[in-house]
This record gives sequence, C-alpha cells and structure tokens, in this order.
Amino acid sequence: MKVLLVAGARPNFMKVAPILKALERRDIESVLVHTGQHYDAQMSDAFFSDLSIKNPDYHLGVGSGSHAEQTARVMLAFEPVLLEARPDWVLVVGDVNSTVACALVTSKLRTALGCRLAHVEAGLRSGDWAMPEEVNRVVTDRISDLLLLPSEDARENLLREGAPPERIVFAGNVMIDTLLAQLPAALAAGVPQRMNVVPGSYAVCTLHRPSNVDAPDTLRAVLEGLSRVAERLPVILPMHPRTRHKADEFGLGSLLERMIITGPLGYRDMLSLVAQSAVVLTDSGGLQEETTSLGVPCVTLRAQTERPITVVQGTNRLTPWPIRSDTLLASFEDAVERGRSGRSPCTIRGWDGSAAERIAIALEEFAPGAPR
Ligand code: UD1
Repeated sequence: MKVLLVAGARPNFMKVAPILKALERRDIESVLVHTGQHYDAQMSDAFFSDLSIKNPDYHLGVGSGSHAEQTARVMLAFEPVLLEARPDWVLVVGDVNSTVACALVTSKLRTALGCRLAHVEAGLRSGDWAMPEEVNRVVTDRISDLLLLPSEDARENLLREGAPPERIVFAGNVMIDTLLAQLPAALAAGVPQRMNVVPGSYAVCTLHRPSNVDAPDTLRAVLEGLSRVAERLPVILPMHPRTRHKADEFGLGSLLERMIITGPLGYRDMLSLVAQSAVVLTDSGGLQEETTSLGVPCVTLRAQTERPITVVQGTNRLTPWPIRSDTLLASFEDAVERGRSGRSPCTIRGWDGSAAERIAIALEEFAPGAPR
C-alpha cells in the first residue's frame, strides 16, 4: 500500500509527523508532498528538523497569494504529482488551502487512478462561513472517502450533513501525539529562562486570523488589550508574518512596545513556552487543543470555535466579541483565576498519543480491495 501525505502550512507539519512514523512502523510506503504554502525557515524548515520529518518527496513551491491564486497553484502543481505517484491513498490534514486544493484534485482523479481520499481532522465546524478554513473543511469532508475524527463530537457534525456513517472512523487527535512525544524535550529546552521570564508567570499570545489582523480598528483593539495584559504579566508574542506586515502597514508598532516580540518560533520552543505559561491568548485552532492537553488556561480571541470540546473540557473560553481592550483584559483575568485551581489532566478520548496508529490501521482496513 502506498500513502501520499500532503502538508503545506505550519499547522500541518505536526499532524503528518506522527502519521509518517506510524506508516513506517507498519512498512507502508509513504510519499510526502510539501505544497510550499508556508516557506520561511521558521514557518516550515524548523518544524521538519524539530519533528524529524523526512525531506518531502515533492515540493510544489506555490508560496503566498490570494485564496484563488494559492488554491489554483496547488491544484495545478499537484495534479501531475498525483498522476506520477499513483498512491492507494491521498491523506490530507486540517483545513488550510493546500488541504482543499489537493482534496479536489484527488476527487477528480479518484476513479481513473483507483485511489481514495482520507481527511484527518474531519468534522470540525465553526459555523462561520466567513472563515476560509470553514469552507475548506466542509468541502474536503464532502469529497473524502474516509473521515477521520479528532474527537467524538465531530461525528455529529458529519452525520448532520449527510456523511455516510461507514465512512466515519474515530482516530483521536494526532497533534497531541506530537505534543506528548515532544514534551520532555520541550521542557528541558528551558525557553522561558532563555527569554528572561519566570515559568508560570507569563502569558503567550498568537495572532494571525484575518478577522483579527486584517482591519486596522480590530487589530488596534486587540493590541491595546494585550498591552493592558502586559501591565499585569509579561506577554510573549511570536509574530506571524501576516500580523507583522499588518501592524507595520497600519502604523501600530507603538502598541507592541510593552510586549516581548519575537519572530515565529519552532515547534519545540513554542511548546516549551506554552507548557510553562500562566495563560495563553490565541486565535489559533491548534493552540486551543494544545493548551487543553496541557491543562493551561486559554483565552480564544475569536467569536466562535470549531473546537468546542476544549471549552467543554474547561481550559478554553472565548473572549466576548467584538474584541475590546477592556473585555480582553477581563478574559485574561478570568483565565488567571481559573489557573489558580491547578491543572487537571486532559480526559478527552483519543487525545492519548496513539491517534496516528489508529489512522494507519484505518487506512489498511479501508484500502481499495480490503474487506469492509
Ligand atoms: C494559513 C492558513 C490558516 C492557518 C495558518 C497558520 C489558509 C486559508 N490559512 O494562514 O488556516 O491557521 O496558515 O499559520 O490556508 N507569509 C510569509 N511567510 C510564509 C508564509 C506566509 O511571509 O512562510 C506571509 C505572506 O505575506 C502571506 C501571509 O503570510 O501572504 C499569509 O500566509 P497564508 O499562507 O496565505 O495564510 P496564513 O495567514 O498563514
């Protein structure tokens, strides 16, 4: 059996890493395609070295662009790769433009090539169609043969949309496989000490959603709120290139002065910081899950989340929307308060370090020709 895995953007790399290893353990051939959606060393290469991911077999080098440009470029570059590689499975992860682009190409060649499409992280829904990722998730799930659930609550979303139950398989959260494998090394890395902050007494923030950073008034309100948080605790803000460009364009640099600003961090350094922080404030999807696994209080800087299980678990809360500096500060204080009662272990089923193994088994059991 041959499995082609697609990775394109930062949050994909920690998802393919454990799957590649699980396939190798089972002597299943893998082909890794990097679309090049993310290309800076700190957005891509750092993850390959931290997570010991093999060099991609194909690099499509698509780079940045509008949604249409980026999606179309991935599709054009991926089609000949798929025709050449002729895998039994194409496996896409998450919800970025590379995910939907390769899923679409695969779905059109599925019959001709006799290959199938699997989606890791199927069934997450924010209900917000203004979010590009929501479109990517719904389209990818609709055309996938195998829908691999990160958590049990995602099943209901798929069934509601009419997905055939026999296509849905519980996998668990593959990103938590990576987190649990990397945590000892991350804690030993001592990144808080290197950055002159005291473990347990600082906040980590990430910010990159267009809904937070693309409009000047919104970005100003968020940065003002974070500046007020920085009066209470040191705030470390590793800046995504999109956010850096927008802060410069809108002339908001002075609002960054109270925070500890870095460029994007590699996987292990980020995990080291997050695991030892008092609170995380973020608009990332992955960090909502990582903080839940670690028991770190999280404030999600969004109007809704496609990961409501993190709220049910109790580590995550959404900040009131639209974001204002005073409500953001209140959300932070509430999170600090929640953190005082200590960290409880994550009890979500399948967030246990074995999701990649379950995915490899599902691919074998559902392979073309395999008995159902
Ligand atoms: C993408 C994903 C988002 C994910 C995020 C993680 C989509 C629709 N969005 O958003 O779901 O949460 O990645 O980071 O797929 N840039 C660089 N260097 C890079 C990559 C990007 O400078 O290596 C800059 C470019 O100016 C680019 C901008 O960042 O235009 C945005 O990059 P893009 O990949 O389009 O979207 P993200 O905001 O990163």
